Amino acid sequence: MCGIMGYIGHGEASGCITDGLSKLEYRGYDSAGIAVINKRGIEVRKSKGELKNLLEKLDRRPVTGSIGIGHTRWSTHGAPSDINSHPHLSKDKTFAVVHNGIIENYLEIKALLTEKGYRFISDTDTECIAHLLHYNYDGENFFETVRKTLDMLEGAYALGIICKDFPDTIIAAKKDSPLIIGLGKDENYIASDIPAILERTRDVYILDEYELAVVKADSVEIYDINGDPVNKNVFKVEWSLDAAEKGGFEHFMLKEIYEQPRIVKDLALSKLPPAEHRVNLEGISLDKSDLEKINRIYVVACGTAYHAGLLGKYFIEKIARIPVVAEVASEFIYKDPILDESTLVIAVSQSGETADTKEAVKIAKSHNAKVLAVVNAIGSSIAREANEVFYILAGPEIAVASTKAFSAQVTAMYLITCHIAMQMGKMSVLEFEEIKASLYTLPDDIEDVLEKAEEIRAVADKYYKAKNVFFIGRGADYLVSMEGSLKLKEIAYINSEAYAAGELKHGPIAMIEEETLVVAIATQQELFRNTLSNIKEVKARSAKVFGIAVDGNKDMAQECDDVVYIPVTHPMVSPLLANIVSQIFAYYMAYNLGTNIDKPRNLAKSVTVQ
Ligand code: M6R
Repeated sequence: MCGIMGYIGHGEASGCITDGLSKLEYRGYDSAGIAVINKRGIEVRKSKGELKNLLEKLDRRPVTGSIGIGHTRWSTHGAPSDINSHPHLSKDKTFAVVHNGIIENYLEIKALLTEKGYRFISDTDTECIAHLLHYNYDGENFFETVRKTLDMLEGAYALGIICKDFPDTIIAAKKDSPLIIGLGKDENYIASDIPAILERTRDVYILDEYELAVVKADSVEIYDINGDPVNKNVFKVEWSLDAAEKGGFEHFMLKEIYEQPRIVKDLALSKLPPAEHRVNLEGISLDKSDLEKINRIYVVACGTAYHAGLLGKYFIEKIARIPVVAEVASEFIYKDPILDESTLVIAVSQSGETADTKEAVKIAKSHNAKVLAVVNAIGSSIAREANEVFYILAGPEIAVASTKAFSAQVTAMYLITCHIAMQMGKMSVLEFEEIKASLYTLPDDIEDVLEKAEEIRAVADKYYKAKNVFFIGRGADYLVSMEGSLKLKEIAYINSEAYAAGELKHGPIAMIEEETLVVAIATQQELFRNTLSNIKEVKARSAKVFGIAVDGNKDMAQECDDVVYIPVTHPMVSPLLANIVSQIFAYYMAYNLGTNIDKPRNLAKSVTVQ
C-alpha cells in the first residue's frame, strides 16, 4: 500500500522521482505527490488520482532541486484528495514526509500537538508525523529529531523525510513496511520496491525492522533505532530491466500471463533433477527427520495466494496423506490457532509484505512453529521472518491482478507436496515420475492454452455484458473456480461467485436465470459425471454455460454453449491449465468493459494494512 521514492544527487530530483513512482503505481494510485528542496525551501506538488495528474501539474508548474521525496497513495486514513495526498508538511514547512503504513496512535499525537497549537489540514495519520518532527526539532539535529519522533510512533511505517535546514540529506526509516536504498554513482535513492530504481542501479540495501538510513548524494549510513551504526551487505538485483517493463504487451497483466511457461519451466527444471527421484529443495530443511517432528500443517495466505494455498492443502492431503488446515491469514491471526514446535506453517505470498500474512508468520514463530514461506519478492519481510523460504522466482509482478505468481505458487505446492510425500514414503517412484513428467511438459501445455487466446477472447466478447457469473467445479476444479471468480471480480467488476458444483442446488441455484453465465470447470475425470449433472441443472434453468474441459471430452461440447479445451495431463496439474483459460477470459471481459486492467479501482498490489 503506497509507494515511496526519493532522490538525492546532482541531477533534477523531480524526473527521477516521478519515473520511480510510475513503477510503483501498482502499490496505489489514489493520488501522487512530490516535495523537493530548493532555494525557496521545500516545494510541494500533489494531485488526486493517478500519477498522470501530477505529471500534468508538474508540466504547468515544474519544481527544481536535486533532493526530493515522492509518493503514490492507496488511501487508508482520509479519502483520496489533493489535501490528503503525500508529502505532508510540518508547521513552518520545516519537514516534508512521505509514509507507507498506518500510525495507530495518531489521534493521541494529534491531540497532544493540537493542544500545543499545531493546526492539521488533512485527515491522514501521516500529517501527525510531520508536525511531531517539528515539535521534537531542536533546530540543529535532524537525525536525533527523527529518532525521537520514531520512538513516539506506534504502528507501521516506511518513511522518507526531508528537512529544509539539511538540503543534503534524506532520512529513511522502516518498521513493518518495506523500504530499500538504491546506491548510485554520486546519487542515491530510497524506494518501496526494486522496480522503481532498476533503471538506475542494481545495488541496494534492504532495510530491516527499526532501521534508519541517512542518505546523502555520496554516502549512505544505516543505523538502528538506538542510533548505533549497522553494517549491511549490498544486495545485487539480478532481474532484467525487461522484467519490469511491458515488453510490447498492452497491459502488464497480459505480459505476465504470457510469462507463465518460462516461469514454470525454470521452477520445474531447477527443482526436479532429471535423473533423480527427488525434489531438490536447495537448502530448505524439510527432510524426513524434520517432517517426522511435524503433526499439523497450516497454510496461511490472502487472496490469490490463499487459492494457491488451498490447492497446496488439496495436494498434500491427497498425495502425502497429511491433514492440512488452510486459513485466510486475516482469520488465522484472530482465532488463537493451535501451534507448537510440531506445527509446520506454510505462508504463501507474492509480495512477502501482506500485513495479515506477515502477522500470521509472527504468531506462528512466537509459538515455535516452523514457518516455510512460499514467496516471490526476494528479501521481503515474510521471507526474512520465516525459518525456510521457497522462492518462486516469478520476477516482478506489476499488474495488481496476480496471474504468474499464482501459477508459480501452485507449481511450488506440487513440488513441496512431492518432496514431503517422497520423504515420508507416501508416494511410489512411479507416481513421482508421473507428476514429474507432467511438470516437465507443463510449460508446453501452457503454451497450447495461450495459443487459444483468440478463442477465449471470442467467448469473452459474447458474455462481457453479463451481470452475474457463477464459477463451478468439483475438487481441485472448485479451488481454481475461486481464483477464476476473483480475477473476474477484481478487474472486470462483475458480480461473480465460485461454488462447489454440488453445492449449487442447496441455495444459489435460485439465482440462475436466463442472463446468468456459468463457467463450469470440469477437468477431473473421476468427478466429471457429477459435474455434468450440475451443468444440466443450470442449463435447464436457461443459464449460459462456458465450459473448460480436457481435450477429447465430447460431452462438454454437447452440454455447454461454449467450451475451451486444455491439453490432457496429470489430473493434479490440469486445474492450473484451466486457470490460465480463466485468466485470459477475465482479461478480455475487462478489456471489453474498458476497465483499468493493471490498476483496478480500490485495489493495491500489496496490502500492507490489516
Ligand atoms: O502479495 P500477496 O500474495 O501476499 O497478496 C495477497 C493478495 O492481496 C493478492 O493475491 C490479491 O488477492 C491479488 N490482487 C489477487 O489478484
